[in-house]
Amino acid sequence: MKSKILNLLQMNSNGYLSGEQISGVLGISRTAVWKHINSLKNEGYIIDSVNNKGYKLLSDTSEVNNSSLKSLCNGYEFIQFAKFLDTVDSTNSEAKRIAMDELHLEGIVVADEQTNGKGRLGRQWTSDKNSGLWMSLLIRPKLKPDAASAITLVAAAGMTKALEDCTKLKIGIKWPNDLIINGKKVCGILTEMSAEINQLHYIILGIGVNLNQVNFTESLSDKATSLKKEGAEVSSKQLLGAFLASFSEFYKQFLKGDMSQVIAFHQAHSVTIGKHVQIISPIETREAYVLDINADGSLLVKNDLGENEIVFSGEVSVRGINGYI
Ligand code: BTN
Repeated sequence: MKSKILNLLQMNSNGYLSGEQISGVLGISRTAVWKHINSLKNEGYIIDSVNNKGYKLLSDTSEVNNSSLKSLCNGYEFIQFAKFLDTVDSTNSEAKRIAMDELHLEGIVVADEQTNGKGRLGRQWTSDKNSGLWMSLLIRPKLKPDAASAITLVAAAGMTKALEDCTKLKIGIKWPNDLIINGKKVCGILTEMSAEINQLHYIILGIGVNLNQVNFTESLSDKATSLKKEGAEVSSKQLLGAFLASFSEFYKQFLKGDMSQVIAFHQAHSVTIGKHVQIISPIETREAYVLDINADGSLLVKNDLGENEIVFSGEVSVRGINGYI
């Protein structure tokens, strides 16, 4: 209800809406309206209240919070629940708990802080309070598990487009899903899936974007960056709004089995194509030269025997020969 009141105030931000008008449109009492307005004020919205005139939204909050999240997610078919948490162990873990409790739900979890943020290959993902966008989408596309694995590329394309829409920075994609600015990682994606051989139960797309950090630990300082360090100030709310819009477009194509625009987008933004890289699997590390990204999202490389070889994203990690990319 609070997010509906917020939507009404946002749509009427040129003037005042009376308590009576809001209560009439939403079918709730004026006291309930007043309580929700106070709660919005507590979340940081600046709302002018004038006797005999009503309420006017003077300034929106810039960060994602409970109400702004619900309002941002309004209208997206793949979001039936939107959960905001001040702090959580990991938004992926929370999304997984919801997925197991509510067998048909799709939605989103966003947190201000993660105490046990998870990265790929069992790594930790530093996720301090107010320093980034930490989110997980729980989706259930009606696809076979092998067709669903390319979803990571869809998310990477969506977030790259969102970052480009919100900043003037040049964003690169280190195949398949690290987003790069000036040679350093600004965003990582951890995709987790629950499936049987022939049946996909759910996918969790966990996305972390570094927004405001200025200091990174010694081990990260030559590999990681944030939008702020690169000179761009973007709020979590602005970025999430842009991401949902761009992801939704790419996701619609993906659901129709059309990956052509996503792949073209990756090819145009790739910092991996044309590079000598190390292909790191649990068994071995080999060197190869990257030729292209294939139509299904896999990587086409020339291996050290001079043969063309296809590398699938779930199986390996790709590193530059002399550094991170
Ligand atoms: C990587 O190693 O590059 C993937 C990092 C993914 C981090 C995000 S932050 C939100 C979501 N919750 C997690 O615990 N991890 C992902």
